[in-house]
Amino acid sequence: YSEENQRVLEAYEWLTKLYHHLLRYTKDGKEGYNYLSERSIDDEAIDTFQLGFAPNIRDFIVKFLEKKGFNKQLLIKAGFVTLREDNTISDRFQGRVIFPIRNHLGKTVAFGGRAIQEQGPKYLNSPESELFQKGKLLYNFDLAKRHIRKENEAVLFEGYMDVIASYQAGIKNVVATLGTALTESQASLLKRYVNQVIICYDGDAAGQEASYKAANILRKAGCEVKIAYLKDGSDPDSFIKQNGAEAFKSQVLRASDTYMTFYMRYFKKDYNLSLEAERLDYIQKILKELAMVESSLEREYYLQELSKEFSMSLDALKEELEVFRLKNG
Ligand code: UTP
Ligand code: MN
Ligand code: MN
Ligand code: MN
Ligand code: MN
Repeated sequence: YSEENQRVLEAYEWLTKLYHHLLRYTKDGKEGYNYLSERSIDDEAIDTFQLGFAPNIRDFIVKFLEKKGFNKQLLIKAGFVTLREDNTISDRFQGRVIFPIRNHLGKTVAFGGRAIQEQGPKYLNSPESELFQKGKLLYNFDLAKRHIRKENEAVLFEGYMDVIASYQAGIKNVVATLGTALTESQASLLKRYVNQVIICYDGDAAGQEASYKAANILRKAGCEVKIAYLKDGSDPDSFIKQNGAEAFKSQVLRASDTYMTFYMRYFKKDYNLSLEAERLDYIQKILKELAMVESSLEREYYLQELSKEFSMSLDALKEELEVFRLKNG
């Protein structure tokens, strides 16, 4: 780290401790603590993830860090404060629960801040910097990696709360992309540690689309992927809260779909399957993808599924599949 980045890391360390202390032990942080309690996050998880609270004060951090001898320029550059139009500075995070974002060495390099009231963006993150590039790190990778190695599997979530709820419930081989778009750099990071990745994004349309994209990026990186299925309106955190860890393991993680099964379900959205012509188009689309599957056993398996679902003869489907396979060479 450069000397300046060293200073920024120090400042993050101070702030992480301060925000955490406020949340855990003071009246100023009570709102944040209550919010997390309502969401069933316990003290142990609060401590493990160093969760904190940024009070609803305009220049709390400004004052604190200046007292510690950090200069204004550095505060702005690191994104702790924002420069206002009248040239004064104010805290970036006010009245938010703070999620420290650690790099792979366990050093905090950014914050995510969740609003506890319904105003402003739900999550506010620190700006990107030399130390923090969102697309290059995975949330919780530093704590998860030994569990990923042990389980020989990684579970990929969307958000902070998914990771924390799962970790608290004892499922610890979990990381998140902090949003939805997995990058190639994140995929190759995972690939260095593990072959098997379960994508477990939210059950809404955005989550499903992101799952499809992430699956392809991970496959390209050489990982074997499965895709977990959650109902629309549900995400890993809410599922665990409602149904518990054992149900999450057995009904969601263990029941996750292979890529091909996910593909067959996902692309139904593009077709009106009550119309014959579209049904045929859909079947063709699936056969084209199936033609690229190496294992003949797997091809046979999915052909059976198609045959059952659309009441078509296996022979007809097989014949069509062979045409696509010849085209692929
Ligand atoms: P979600 O919208 O799924 O939020 O975004 P969530 O994680 O379920 O949050 P809760 O449960 O409502 O608290 C997934 C992730 O996308 C990023 C955050 O990292 C979030 O955890 N995100 C989302 C942002 O950075 N900004 C936003 O405004 C929303
Ligand atoms: Mn603590
Ligand atoms: Mn989401
Ligand atoms: Mn979510
Ligand atoms: Mn959620």
